Amino acid sequence: MSKHIIPHHYQISKSDRIASNQHNAFLLWFTGLSGSGKSTIANLVEKALFEQGIKTYSLDGDNIRKGINNDLTFAPEDRTENIRRIAEVSNLMIDAGLVVLAAFVSPYKKDRENIRTIVKDVNFVEIYVNTSVEECERRDVKGLYKKARAGEIKNMTGISAPYEAPEQPDIEVKTENESIEDSVKRIVNYITPKLQLTNE
Ligand code: ADX
Repeated sequence: MSKHIIPHHYQISKSDRIASNQHNAFLLWFTGLSGSGKSTIANLVEKALFEQGIKTYSLDGDNIRKGINNDLTFAPEDRTENIRRIAEVSNLMIDAGLVVLAAFVSPYKKDRENIRTIVKDVNFVEIYVNTSVEECERRDVKGLYKKARAGEIKNMTGISAPYEAPEQPDIEVKTENESIEDSVKRIVNYITPKLQLTNE
């Protein structure tokens, strides 16, 4: 279907945008159970970057599943499509010169590998927010685990649907053992060299 789509050559390229922004663009992908702390940590990382003048944008269930992906459920094939679209949107945002922070359960290894393919390995930083299901259920910030136990929510990740943990994430955050401030610092320190433009 795409064989008759011939790309237009734009006057302004990604490298022009990152040169103007004075930093590289890439994707920080936060994966973990619902209630693990992904969005909280991603938001604080974004704040730290924003305060340094970095151009950022955050994607999460609130702005994606209520909008562009409001036709998708939590069945495995819909989760795959959810992640694929988010990866494509992230790819455009990287091209726009942004540091994108995406916080999604993304429970399937193959879907996360697909993100890596879409945005390219070098632009993908996988952050595993590792909070046990027991702790997520204890916190139950949104009351979803209770509903899942009562059978009101099907396919609940960690309860009635699988979560395939990353084996070699770039960064692993164990929220039960480390303070949020320390996790945020560790992530910011990890990406600081990646932000630097090399061929100036
Ligand atoms: S993903 O699996 O497709 O990556 P996504 O991150 O977009 O999931 O959405 C997960 C959020 O939707 C959870 O944080 C939770 O608030 C809500 N949610 C509703 N139903 C489910 C479910 N069955 N499993 C997991 N999360 C759910």
